[in-house]
Amino acid sequence: MPLLIAAMVFASALMSATAMAAVDAKHGEALYTARCGACHSVADNGAGPRHRGVFGCRAATQPGFEYSDALRQSGIVWDEKTLDRWLSDPSAFVPGNMMVVRLANEAADRADLIAFLQSVSQGERSCKPGTAMPAAVSSSQP
Ligand code: HEC
Repeated sequence: MPLLIAAMVFASALMSATAMAAVDAKHGEALYTARCGACHSVADNGAGPRHRGVFGCRAATQPGFEYSDALRQSGIVWDEKTLDRWLSDPSAFVPGNMMVVRLANEAADRADLIAFLQSVSQGERSCKPGTAMPAAVSSSQP
């Protein structure tokens, strides 16, 4: 039995090492469901705006969502850098915005979440595209 537990601990250590090494959109999806799902979904506005197509969009341009003036006037285009800053600390990046939660303090988790948001941003897009489109699709996409 102790052997089995040791093996499990080793396996999970190995898995988190792998997760840190490579950006993992599947892990990002699980994080998204667990941490963001109370307010967000890909398809529908809720307490937070829908996220279909958000990567590469101007901030605060999903139709039908009542954004704060702070986010509307931010001029942000969502890409790896801006999403990373937003998820690190939304209030520091856009003072006065309505998303006050910090739910992705680990850089690896943010990278996975961003890869997931990028994966749901190919094709159909409901928000307004940014002026500077980021380089498409990372090679780690399935
Ligand atoms: C407690 C509710 C809540 C949670 C949990 C939450 N958000 Fe938000 N989010 C919001 C709200 C509200 C806004 C709109 C902010 C504004 O208008 O100022 C927003 C805005 C955003 C935006 C900008 C969207 C746009 O159209 O410009 C992104 C990206 C985002 N959230 C990502 C996330 C991610 C990723 C998570 C999980 C780690 C998360 N949010 C968790 C409430 C939440």
